[in-house]
Amino acid sequence: MANDMATDIDELIYDPADPSTLRNPHALFARLRHEDPVHWSEPMSGWVVTNYDYATEILTDSEVFSAERLTSVRKHLPGPAQNAASEILRWLNHWMVFRDPPDHTRLRRHMATVLNLPVFESLRESVRGIVDMLLDKLPRGETIDFIPNFSIMMPGMVVMDLLGVDRTRLLEVKSWSDDMMLFIGSARGVPDKYDRARRGALAMAALFKDLIEQRRVEPKGDILSQLIHSEIDGRQLNDDEIIGSMMMVLNGGHETTANLLNNSLLALAGNPDQMAVLRSGSGNMVTAVEEFLRFDSPVLSIGRIVTQDMELGNKQLTKGERVFAMLLAANRDEDVFDDPDRLDVSRNPNPHMAFGKGNHFCLGTPLARIEGQIALEAIIERYGAISLEGNVDDIPWINSMVTRGPTRLPLRLT
Ligand code: HEM
Repeated sequence: MANDMATDIDELIYDPADPSTLRNPHALFARLRHEDPVHWSEPMSGWVVTNYDYATEILTDSEVFSAERLTSVRKHLPGPAQNAASEILRWLNHWMVFRDPPDHTRLRRHMATVLNLPVFESLRESVRGIVDMLLDKLPRGETIDFIPNFSIMMPGMVVMDLLGVDRTRLLEVKSWSDDMMLFIGSARGVPDKYDRARRGALAMAALFKDLIEQRRVEPKGDILSQLIHSEIDGRQLNDDEIIGSMMMVLNGGHETTANLLNNSLLALAGNPDQMAVLRSGSGNMVTAVEEFLRFDSPVLSIGRIVTQDMELGNKQLTKGERVFAMLLAANRDEDVFDDPDRLDVSRNPNPHMAFGKGNHFCLGTPLARIEGQIALEAIIERYGAISLEGNVDDIPWINSMVTRGPTRLPLRLT
């Protein structure tokens, strides 16, 4: 538990659901980095770690900081949710993102045979086609909510194609995936959230089970067909492992990329000088996307469980406690990034950790970059003016410990 600290540090409270923190957590994170970089947050019942070096330690030492955090999620569930939990965990337990070696290593080796640079590079043309098709549908000069009209649809369609699921089912499958995530997210005040999570998981499992059976009879060029036959050290994946992995890719490859686009457009709206750099052609979209990832990272934090009593930043951490590596805060650490609160689309080098670090480093990184670069380039090229309607302070933000992004993004594109 937290040590006794000086009074001013006691006053520092990190409550992720606090509306002003949700709107702009950066000022509070800067104070935490300076005054209490390993901070006990009562609202989170865990340690909140904000500086770059400690966050790196948490993500790279998998023996001391375990990724197996589902048991802890389950421990905090109310009694009636336990039955739903057993059913959902049947698949969630196979998400490699929640596993330590050796299971993690084995699952990742299978997944790396289907999620890799050549596969992602081969999707470039198809990503461009989806971007153009969606932009063609947007009305010019009218205020639209960019999220349902573009940023959710684009990565959603890309990941559905990748998995071999019919694009037309995107909204239905996404609603199941969102419902399933109610189980691990921090959504409050959602009635029946565990029952919805259970139904979402069952519906998704039924869909993938069906597809597995179809691909066994008639293989296609998609990753599902390859995963069914993937063999590492003489062992194939079983159906629950394949279903869990498909669910994980669907979930991990979707909202994160949507928020990369949303947060990038918000960052540009607040920094017209940087938009001018990109429009003038003197900036380049490859470094710009890295800077957007750093400046307002789509993943707010990564959770781990302490496996042994240990000391970090003069704090005593106890076996079983939760720690959160706050990516958003580490990515603005002034010891690593010059002038970290400044958006600089030409920043290079840019060793941000928006995709994590260590053995769980995001397997979809090249695809997220390709999608971000193609979509933002197309949007900037097509529209001479991209204006945020209303005040940036009125933008509502997702209330989650995992995701960082707006829930509504009113834009006028002309
Ligand atoms: C901007 C978009 C994205 C961001 C910011 C992002 C971020 C992350 C982060 C921070 C992790 C590490 C989690 C941990 O250490 O516990 C991760 C893992 C992962 N991501 Fe991404 N991701 C993005 C897009 C994608 C895409 C497009 C895919 C797949 C198509 C994907 C697939 C995965 C997978 C499979 C893992 C698990 C890796 C492992 O546990 O070994 N991600 N991602």
